[in-house]
Amino acid sequence: IPVDPFDLVIFGGTGDLARRKILPGLFRRFCGGQMPPEARIIGAARSDMDDAGFRQMVAESIHEFGDKRHPHEDQLPAFLERVSYETVDATGDGGWTALKARLRPGTVRAFYFSVGPSLFGDLAERLRGFGLADDDSRVVVEKPFGHDLKSARALNATLARHFSEQQIYRIDHYLGKETVQNLMAVRFGNMLFEPLWNAQYVDHIQITVAETVGVGGRGGYYDKSGAMRDMVQNHLMQLLCLIAMEPPARFEPDSVRDEKLKVIRALDPVDWHHIVRGQYAPDGDTPGYRHDVEDPRSRTESFVALKCHVSNWRWAGTPFYLRTGKKLRARTSEIAVVFKDAPHSIFGADAGRHRNVLSIRLQPNEGITLGVTIKEPGPGGMRLVDVPLDMTFADALGPDVEDVPDAYERLIMDVIRGNQTLFMRGDEVEAAWAWTDPIIEGWIARNEVPKPYDVGSSGPDDSLMLMHKDGRKWREIR
Ligand code: BG6
Repeated sequence: IPVDPFDLVIFGGTGDLARRKILPGLFRRFCGGQMPPEARIIGAARSDMDDAGFRQMVAESIHEFGDKRHPHEDQLPAFLERVSYETVDATGDGGWTALKARLRPGTVRAFYFSVGPSLFGDLAERLRGFGLADDDSRVVVEKPFGHDLKSARALNATLARHFSEQQIYRIDHYLGKETVQNLMAVRFGNMLFEPLWNAQYVDHIQITVAETVGVGGRGGYYDKSGAMRDMVQNHLMQLLCLIAMEPPARFEPDSVRDEKLKVIRALDPVDWHHIVRGQYAPDGDTPGYRHDVEDPRSRTESFVALKCHVSNWRWAGTPFYLRTGKKLRARTSEIAVVFKDAPHSIFGADAGRHRNVLSIRLQPNEGITLGVTIKEPGPGGMRLVDVPLDMTFADALGPDVEDVPDAYERLIMDVIRGNQTLFMRGDEVEAAWAWTDPIIEGWIARNEVPKPYDVGSSGPDDSLMLMHKDGRKWREIR
């Protein structure tokens, strides 16, 4: 379904995120017929460039980062006609009047701040001051949304001086992933799971976001953040919220966000014995983390594993184990809901111990699998085996799964539609920092050095111990 015609201004239009995600994503939506012909995309940045130069950059980005299987070359010229560029000085007056002249009255207006947070205030002030934004305009902001509670509050206050909460779209691209939304469909669209979705039946929950990439060219940013700020405070906590939250009354922005906020507020402070920090070590000729960030003494973590508790009626006593890291064995993001043992085994000890596990795979091979126990086929007597009830989207949906929009595409279209359901509210972001700040402060106070781990492993051994101590086991990263 096409969205309304829009003018989308991308500040930082020549930057990495725009080239990798935003522009190729918009092109996919254009090819998918969702971006109407009247839509306009205006890149804005400090670089001196004209429309032709920007179009060339956009075309190159699409070639490099776009959909290789469906390149849609024939549609590229028509898309580029809708793209233009304005040189704008975020901290001065240059270019703002010209940018304003490119915007059309009566069209949905969205301003994407694909720039560092230190510029949010300057941009917001000038958008209002030069009359580019009005009370219907939308602003889209990216993480990092602050680096602690204090800075996040300051950013929220800065934005709130110029825009209402209904106009602010804080992106956490994990919320735009197909399976993440499917998680809500599975939980709240079926009778089967919700009655079991509590401490009485769930033994524990594991959330793993494992990456094979290192810090790449982002060492400068990453070394000041680490895995806790870069991944746990946002992506992993959002996944935890969706798993743990109560059913919202409606699939509407504030219904959903109110429930997520309650989960964050119900999180107990994490006991420092229940957190493992890691840093990938050098291995022969392969450089380690410290080399990648060019700081031989860096104590920033590229891996975190932790155990936490949501202290409320539903989850009392059920631990949530979270882990994420770079340069691990495989790229896998998975949420696993591990159910308790059946109360009594009528088949005797020899039949083996089996547990139902609902696995929600975000990537790769997006899909949902339920491990169920059946009798091992054949004459061997009553032996039990686990088999998966598998709903891999590519199998279930056939070739159409190729057309499923990726996270950024979907979220940008939601901005144009004015739907905030999959965006973080200011109070949620603040509550998440309020939970992670003491963890980070504790590391600093205890002068903690992250544990080294091998590139291509599952993280430091201590993270395995975190589970073993509780008589549990991480699922394999593969
Ligand atoms: C980003 C982090 O938010 O998410 C990166 O800053 C990380 O460090 C990325 O690599 C992971 O996203 P995805 O979609 O590839 O799992």
